[in-house]
Amino acid sequence: MSMGKGDTSWFVQDRFGLFIHWGLYAQGARHEWLMANEKISVEEYERRYFKRFYPDLYNPELWAKAASNAGMKYFVVTTKHHEGFCLWDSQFTDYKATNTAIGKDLLTPMVNAFRNEGLRTGFYYSVIDWHHPENFIDNRFGPYRELPAEEMAKMNAGRTQAKYAEYMRNQVRELLTRFGKVDVMWFDFSYPPPKEFPADDFSKGKGRLAWESEKLYAMVRELMPSVIVDDRLDLPDAWDIKTPEQWQPREWYTHEGQRVVWEACQTLSGSWGYHRDEMTWRSSDELIRTLIDCVSKGGNLLLNVGPTGRGEFDERALSRLEDIGEWMKRHQRSIYGCTQAPDEFKAPENCKLTYNPQTKRLYVHVFAWPAYGTLYLDGISDRVEYAQLLHDASEVKFEMPPAWQGGTQSSANTLNLRLPANEPKVAVPVIELFLK
Ligand code: GLC
Repeated sequence: MSMGKGDTSWFVQDRFGLFIHWGLYAQGARHEWLMANEKISVEEYERRYFKRFYPDLYNPELWAKAASNAGMKYFVVTTKHHEGFCLWDSQFTDYKATNTAIGKDLLTPMVNAFRNEGLRTGFYYSVIDWHHPENFIDNRFGPYRELPAEEMAKMNAGRTQAKYAEYMRNQVRELLTRFGKVDVMWFDFSYPPPKEFPADDFSKGKGRLAWESEKLYAMVRELMPSVIVDDRLDLPDAWDIKTPEQWQPREWYTHEGQRVVWEACQTLSGSWGYHRDEMTWRSSDELIRTLIDCVSKGGNLLLNVGPTGRGEFDERALSRLEDIGEWMKRHQRSIYGCTQAPDEFKAPENCKLTYNPQTKRLYVHVFAWPAYGTLYLDGISDRVEYAQLLHDASEVKFEMPPAWQGGTQSSANTLNLRLPANEPKVAVPVIELFLK
């Protein structure tokens, strides 16, 4: 189920996408929020990073190859992040890639490269903008958030929020008319003023009133009826997907009691933008388990890479994408077209289930290889026709609980899968069960 009108039919099949956070912050190389974190003024930020931006090694074909080899089916790129800088040649601002040292539109070749690799296109667009001169400064986020009230009021004196809202519509219109079919429009993010303040006091926060979200959303729908829109415009009833960020829901994401289409977004190391010194990189195995976790709960994973200021995926990102691809090559059948298993199937200890309703196959992802090589699967004994390890199509024998076991070990409905004693040399072994 989804609340909006976008076409999510492909999305719930494809399951795995690449998030790209790329902007001037790549040069700071210490988080895409550095402008806010370090309270860098607009002038200073421009001086340091804008003119200097020179991604001379940028080759989007390599990015697209890396993503498609990892098994990703769509990508979502920050066309503009909170810093306000635009990757494309927008006619509504000078703060764009064409005016940097590299002097060219960086978005068009990216879209072309990913499309050529067969991936679908998504645009992230930050409604937050710490650079635009008409956008109100508020005391919540951004480099000026801690200014004394009078100083902030002075900075806001000449600003007209409605002009910024119009600027956004103009830009989003460009994004939806100049680049062919856009499959995902990913807005980020809203933080309306707290209840005790007037809803239109934009110095206390910004939500649907500040962004004129209703107009923006209506325009998006009109220009690109099928596009999937995320849930961050502060519009309770106009979104297609829920977007848990940096956490995994414990079960299928629900909204008002209904299961909804959802996509977790996760980083490789904590920061979204390129971060040179971050040492908290997640292992490939853990990232693979995260993808499985999403699908086992009916969701997608949007996994982020922050390319460098020279325009490359760094070695740490590439090696993880390669590892994921190595696994996906042999296990994609348990991901694409799959979803949460019907309730009657209970995941065995240390396992996650996914299910393909079309082919009626159940996939058991074994996160920890069982002692003595037996996996007990409750609730399905009479439904299984055949079982095999997915990576090498080697048969897995199974049996109903033998009489001598009985008791607390297994019930009449328990299937005993006889796994090899040695764990297969893959990141996460998967057993494919062909159901009757
Ligand atoms: C956030 C952050 C951010 C990142 C993102 C991705 O709320 O502000 O930097 O782009 O969401 O979900």
